[in-house]
Amino acid sequence: MINENILKLELSGIRKMFEMAGEDTINLGLGQPDFQPPEDVIEVYKRSMLDGNNGYGSSYGLPDLREEIAKCQSRHRSDLTMDNVMITVGATQALRITLESTVGKGDEVLYPEPGFVLYEPQISLAGGKAVPYPVLQQNDFVPTIDKLEELRTPSTKAIIVNSPGNPTGGVFTKNDVKEITSWAQEHDMLIISDEVYEMMVYEDEHVSFLGDYDNVIAINSFSKTFAMTGWRIGFMVTGQEWIRQIGKLHYYTIACPPTPPQHAVLYALKDRLDFVDEMTETFRRRRDVIVERLNGIEGIDCLNPRGAFYAFPTFEYDLSSQEFAMALLKKGVIATPGDAFGPTGEGHIRFSYANSTENIIKAMDILEETVREIYPSSP
Ligand SMILES: Cc1ncc(COP(=O)(O)O)c(C=O)c1O
Repeated sequence: MINENILKLELSGIRKMFEMAGEDTINLGLGQPDFQPPEDVIEVYKRSMLDGNNGYGSSYGLPDLREEIAKCQSRHRSDLTMDNVMITVGATQALRITLESTVGKGDEVLYPEPGFVLYEPQISLAGGKAVPYPVLQQNDFVPTIDKLEELRTPSTKAIIVNSPGNPTGGVFTKNDVKEITSWAQEHDMLIISDEVYEMMVYEDEHVSFLGDYDNVIAINSFSKTFAMTGWRIGFMVTGQEWIRQIGKLHYYTIACPPTPPQHAVLYALKDRLDFVDEMTETFRRRRDVIVERLNGIEGIDCLNPRGAFYAFPTFEYDLSSQEFAMALLKKGVIATPGDAFGPTGEGHIRFSYANSTENIIKAMDILEETVREIYPSSP
């Protein structure tokens, strides 16, 4: 028998909608880079298998990789060692074991809305009460302390934060991070910081929540960084005792992260950060193209995304985000309706710019045409 927790879960209907897409459809719905990892990194993966690295490894992950991550992340917090790092099966599993290990029955966990679709179900599966907090365009997609304070109760145990944000492209400033951290610290709250788009920041530097406050678990991943979402290598960085405790559940869940790709990721991290810079620069150029086009359309208002690879404009047409996405799909463009990221996302539509500039331009032409039909007064 399937238990009630699982029966209650629902899969997003959006995938079904996308399955209706024809062959020539331009996909601006993608949540992953339209790049391949560098060839030499793939070669290291292959060689790693041929060299016999096909057995179980340490449950915490390859020591050399943990060491290298600690070195890289020490730009956020200087006292990190490999004992502060655990390799996971993507950020997805890191989030899952973090919530499962820290949330008790009835504990409330604040999470961003519109936000990444895994937060709410993962909090609920851990037995917690998922409490959404709004991240609104008028506030640069950053939560306000006033609103967080309004939502806080004596049962609030943790807050999930996500910068750069999916689906919003919002990026927290140093001051935002400082304010949220002080507020969480004042109320003895755990901060679970999803930083998977850390390397894709356009205007400023990424500001991590890793810092002086000890109750922070930073969740990260190589999925987007090296365009290897299918390799399933992520990591968490936190206090050593947190790693020891969460590490137990990690072991009983997956035994160990996959061995061969960790060797390739280690190589990539040491030798191919140039790839990340180049990819991010490409995303920045495409962002400039898509945002200019979006803001040139009457009834659409797009805040310049400062990170990740999503534009999340509002629209003021008389239809729901699902209807708008469906109208676009019929014309050959996949975009994600804003309400897929929670009810606060209604009135928005997400365009991923993980597609070629040529396709983005074509998609924007189609969008203009679609809008002309649904909003006849537009140019
Ligand atoms: C904000 C955010 N967190 C986590 C993930 C999951 O990443 P991973 O592939 O490492 O599991 C995604 C993927 O889309 C994401 O957008």
